[in-house]
Amino acid sequence: MFENAQPRPIDQIIAVTRAYAEDPRTDKVDFGIGVYKDEMGNTPVMRAVKEAERRLVEGQKTKTYVGVGGDQKFVDLLSGAVLPGYGYGTDMIGVQAIGGSGAVRLLAELARTLNPDARFWLPEPTWPNHGAILGAVGATMESYPYPKYKAEVDVDAILSALDAANPGDVVILHGSCHNPTGIDPEPEALARLVDGIVERELMPFVDAAYVGFGHGWADDAARISLIAERAPEMLLALSCSKNFGIYRERTGAALLVSKGNPQLAVANSQLLAIARQSYSMPPDHGASIVRTIFEDDALKADWLAELEEIRNRIRVNRSALALALARAKQDRDWTYIDKGFGMFSLLDVTPEDAKTLREDQGVYVIPDGRMNIAGIDTSKVDEIAAKLVSVL
Ligand code: LMR
Repeated sequence: MFENAQPRPIDQIIAVTRAYAEDPRTDKVDFGIGVYKDEMGNTPVMRAVKEAERRLVEGQKTKTYVGVGGDQKFVDLLSGAVLPGYGYGTDMIGVQAIGGSGAVRLLAELARTLNPDARFWLPEPTWPNHGAILGAVGATMESYPYPKYKAEVDVDAILSALDAANPGDVVILHGSCHNPTGIDPEPEALARLVDGIVERELMPFVDAAYVGFGHGWADDAARISLIAERAPEMLLALSCSKNFGIYRERTGAALLVSKGNPQLAVANSQLLAIARQSYSMPPDHGASIVRTIFEDDALKADWLAELEEIRNRIRVNRSALALALARAKQDRDWTYIDKGFGMFSLLDVTPEDAKTLREDQGVYVIPDGRMNIAGIDTSKVDEIAAKLVSVL
């Protein structure tokens, strides 16, 4: 059987991560995978996470299964922190998922099961794994335009693309900190976009992997509430990888949201069946960490404070890089980098330029030009900007 296999290229983000790790140069610059790094280049374990882990090690009495839907208290507390006006079990319900990607996969499979004719509308550009995951569940994909190298989202352009959608089609939206552009619609524009989606009888599918990285936890969560309040039904993929810094613990949740809808429990039984036949039951550790933090006011306050420190460093990096690029190359408008949110922004380069940057300068951007600004050493920003503009 194995002789039938053809080599398959790995995802471009994973390929860049691997190449960076293997590069022996000491002055290499990592703009690659979406992982936060501090000024020293480390991705620390957050204080509250360390404390929660200590308590778990001491207090845990069993390692028996957690159930197909995972730690339901975790799902309840996490979803409640994102959608405070929504009762768990009545207005929303869901399962613990294997990271945000696992949540996207479960919800995509559910949408395919419940509406096999639905097409999936994705922003162009979007996170490359969206297309890969949707392709793996046999989905038909379409795209709507999203701004590149600009700070404003053109809602009219998106809605006019969605004029070609059929009722029941699914629209992928990024909760905040759009990956890869870093550009989010302002709340009024987002409201207009969601109203247009609802008018066209489409289903919003929100991928929220960066709650807390844009305007802070409450404001980023409010964006998701805004969508939920305007749409009769919503699919919601939540990730704890970045905002709790527990990337390798693969912790997330797949949620079905619809105020007071008695069908929620029935739809959730389908989600549970998909989970059971995919991996049976999720791992416990990451969800237990997050639950422990949410259950303790002091730990929660400390986690939120550290999340703010992380968010602020990324903000400083964005502004510093935009300014340094403006010094290095004055004939371009770099304000979109400063005005964006979260880890990512785009550099206007071809995949060949990205390769040149990697090979000649040791600067690792994703081939589509995505830069993770959270990983750079702010004190070296002029040096880094000079390397980036060398290929423009
Ligand atoms: C990213 O976009 O870099 C992260 O979400 C990590 C990943 O899995 O691609």
